[in-house]
Amino acid sequence: MQTLDKRTEEICAEFAKVYDGAPTHVAIGPGRVNLIGEHTDYNDGFVLPVALDKDVRVVFRPRSDRRVRLYAVEFDTWADFDLDNMAFDNEVFWANYTMGVAWALEKTGVRLVGLEGVVSGNIPRGSGLSSSAGLEISNALALLSAADSLDALTGVQIAKAAQHAENAFVGVNCGIMDQFISTLGEEGNALLIDCRSLEYQRVPFPAGASLVIGNTKASRSLASSAYNERRAQCEEGVAALQVALPGITALRDVTSAQLEAHKELLSPVVYRRCRHVVGENERVAATVQALAAGDLDEVGRLMNASHESLRYDYEVSSDALDAMVEAMRSVPGCLGARLTGAGFGGCAVALVSKGQERAVRDAILERYSKAMNIWPEVYISPASAGARIFALE
Ligand code: GLA
Repeated sequence: MQTLDKRTEEICAEFAKVYDGAPTHVAIGPGRVNLIGEHTDYNDGFVLPVALDKDVRVVFRPRSDRRVRLYAVEFDTWADFDLDNMAFDNEVFWANYTMGVAWALEKTGVRLVGLEGVVSGNIPRGSGLSSSAGLEISNALALLSAADSLDALTGVQIAKAAQHAENAFVGVNCGIMDQFISTLGEEGNALLIDCRSLEYQRVPFPAGASLVIGNTKASRSLASSAYNERRAQCEEGVAALQVALPGITALRDVTSAQLEAHKELLSPVVYRRCRHVVGENERVAATVQALAAGDLDEVGRLMNASHESLRYDYEVSSDALDAMVEAMRSVPGCLGARLTGAGFGGCAVALVSKGQERAVRDAILERYSKAMNIWPEVYISPASAGARIFALE
């Protein structure tokens, strides 16, 4: 029997309040933070995220019919639906992630069964740390396990199904990064993911450094429309560049030298969007090399360059994110800092020399709150394990 940690125990206690009898399993889907490689995933490019020690958990047991009942502790609402009758829920928004995942899993050919359980998460919501991927992936593992079909799909297939759920059922046009790292993350490692081939490799997280994440707590209201606009601009860039470079199908195929040589084909705005993506892919490769060489100063420089590129070329930063990054960089032990995730608000991430975490945290609390008049949150997370499931009995 699995020794329960405190959080799982608390969720089991919630289970006991709403059902008779005991749950059989707990499924865990972590959030993520991206070291570098931002807005590259939907351009068939490269990303370098880590899974966080914050997650969404679902404590559950299978049912013999096709009904799914989940109680969400933080929302105090239920997802309650039949696998044979799933329709978008306008009232209980989070239920669409559960339904979408069930729908996408069945589309792969898996026949699911119902389950009942309790879901609870500690990934800050709406902060760019992928609480939705944590929800999707924990739910996917729970549904597959209830149907005795955990082995039916690979981790990559589970991640793809969850992305499909988010794109086609929930209606959010995200790339594959968040679901991928939530499913396949590994303790002590970042993953270098090729978002075209979906091949990936472990990149050991450096022993001499820590990740400090600063949550701006600023609203991300523009995020989804601006995200879709950026995607469209990248596609426009590819279409224009194809005139000179007929072999390309995505910005992933373009080098900086090619982009410079053909910039007259692009409007100034589209050129800057492309310059970010092309440069960012090159920075991911350089970061992996610098990590292998143990050159953390270079990793920090690349992270800083990523932020400037996101700020001036891709234009997805915000006053709050810039203030956060500035506060982080004010401490000498901060090797580099950048916004992480889609941008427009949410979180920034700093690579910090071991032992300097508190100094960076204190600088964030003092300087950011003064600059923005908002009280931020700071998280220090090791590179953690990806999704997992445990039997409770
Ligand atoms: C969001 C999306 C990801 C990715 C990032 C930007 O987190 O869900 O797929 O596009 O933005 O890198």
